[in-house]
Amino acid sequence: MSSLTPREIVSELDKYVIGQNEAKRMVAIAMRNRWRRQRLEPELREEIAPKNIIMMGPTGVGKTEIARRLAKLSKSPFHKVEATKFTEVGYVGRDVESMIRDLMEIGIAMVRAEEREKVRVRAEGAAEDRLLDLLLPGAAPASGGYSFTPRPDPAAPRLPPAQDTTREKFRQMWREGKLDDRYVELEVTTQGEGGMSIMAIPGMEDMGNQVQDMIGRMFPSRKKLRKMKIKDAFDTLVQEESDKLIDMDKVQDIARERVEQTGIIFLDEIDKIASRQDHGGPDVSREGVQRDLLPVVEGCVVNTKYGMIRTDHILFIAAGAFHYSKPSDLIPELQGRFPLRVELSALGQEEFYRILTEPQNALTVQYSALLGTEGLTLSFTDDSLREIAATAQKINEETENIGARRLYTIMEKLLSELSFEASDKGGQQVVVDGEYVRSQLSAIVENRDLSRYIL
Ligand SMILES: Nc1ncnc2c1ncn2[C@@H]1O[C@H](COP(=O)(O)OP(=O)(O)OP(=O)(O)O)[C@@H](O)[C@H]1O
Ligand SMILES: [Mg+2]
Repeated sequence: MSSLTPREIVSELDKYVIGQNEAKRMVAIAMRNRWRRQRLEPELREEIAPKNIIMMGPTGVGKTEIARRLAKLSKSPFHKVEATKFTEVGYVGRDVESMIRDLMEIGIAMVRAEEREKVRVRAEGAAEDRLLDLLLPGAAPASGGYSFTPRPDPAAPRLPPAQDTTREKFRQMWREGKLDDRYVELEVTTQGEGGMSIMAIPGMEDMGNQVQDMIGRMFPSRKKLRKMKIKDAFDTLVQEESDKLIDMDKVQDIARERVEQTGIIFLDEIDKIASRQDHGGPDVSREGVQRDLLPVVEGCVVNTKYGMIRTDHILFIAAGAFHYSKPSDLIPELQGRFPLRVELSALGQEEFYRILTEPQNALTVQYSALLGTEGLTLSFTDDSLREIAATAQKINEETENIGARRLYTIMEKLLSELSFEASDKGGQQVVVDGEYVRSQLSAIVENRDLSRYIL
């Protein structure tokens, strides 16, 4: 579990998200509280539930971004899901418990990747040996198995037998990349009847999975010879070898612990399921979804492929624009499960300018790097960035406010000509200045109908 202090968490988030300080502070506290909880006597620890958060704010102001970055920072399994996707139990659609199953899948994948990384060197050694067996059939090493053989010690006095010398020559060639264009035939395992899949019944994905598992067991996995590039074969072999080396039971245990103690579920569009009863009709089932959510948020046990998962300490961050509804429109029980509320503010010209310049992964950096691969050096004057920010603000006001996403459409349009021509402009230096921005965009900005479609 990450031991960053709230101040450190906020300053890490500052690297990617501009403004929204209140929201950052709130998620930082939620994060730190988990760490604090871990330090308590088991008895009290069990009592302390996470303080779930509702983020309110217009579209494109960083709600999802903050949650995602937070999860990455704390290495927490993170799952984003739209509240509107669920339906009440008994109706066609996904049931709310599926989000815990999905979170567990994410946790498993995360831990498996870490465990694979730990055994990578050994797995690569074993994979290399198997690759050589494929290249030199019948010349398998005396030991026969695919066990890891240490890299040959160049200073070893012993002269290897003839067969081994060929093998070592191939090994050398492979390591130097001289065999990369060769193809080999590799036996790969396919599940069931040649990858037969069950037709997806809408809303029954989970049942589909179970049925598929069952059928998979009925038709044992088959081996199939496949021709592939030597590099791909190596990657496949490394996967196979590392799976042999890692202990799946251990992976499951670690993943379960991590999901239960540090998992984060981002429940988007919560405002869409919060509406007053007076409209009648479909709202009945919306309220049903809220009722179904209650136990999951409050803490229950969900049955997954990897065993039972307790949801008591999973952190829920709900988000929504709340244009047409308020948190108080949620059913009372659910309101109580989300005690922390924070409002994110709309973004303006000044924030747009900072978003273009400050984050490590700022759009300007991304475009310069992309075109840099063509040998074109792209840079932006301060003047141009101010102009882009002002344009974003203007279009947001005049058409629809889509927040920072406006910068994406503007940048794409602004650089479309350059992006097309960059391949012929290797070695050149292009400086985007205010004049260039105006010349590329003015015609569209002036024409409101046009900007509705293009920017
Ligand atoms: N304050 C910000 N600082 C930096 N980048 C931002 C900020 N707000 C939004 N962005 C960028 O804009 C894009 C959209 O933001 P995000 O996905 O967080 O929107 P959102 O608030 O979740 O909106 P929605 O309600 O539509 O889901 C992201 O790529 C994000 O990087
Ligand atoms: Mg979002």
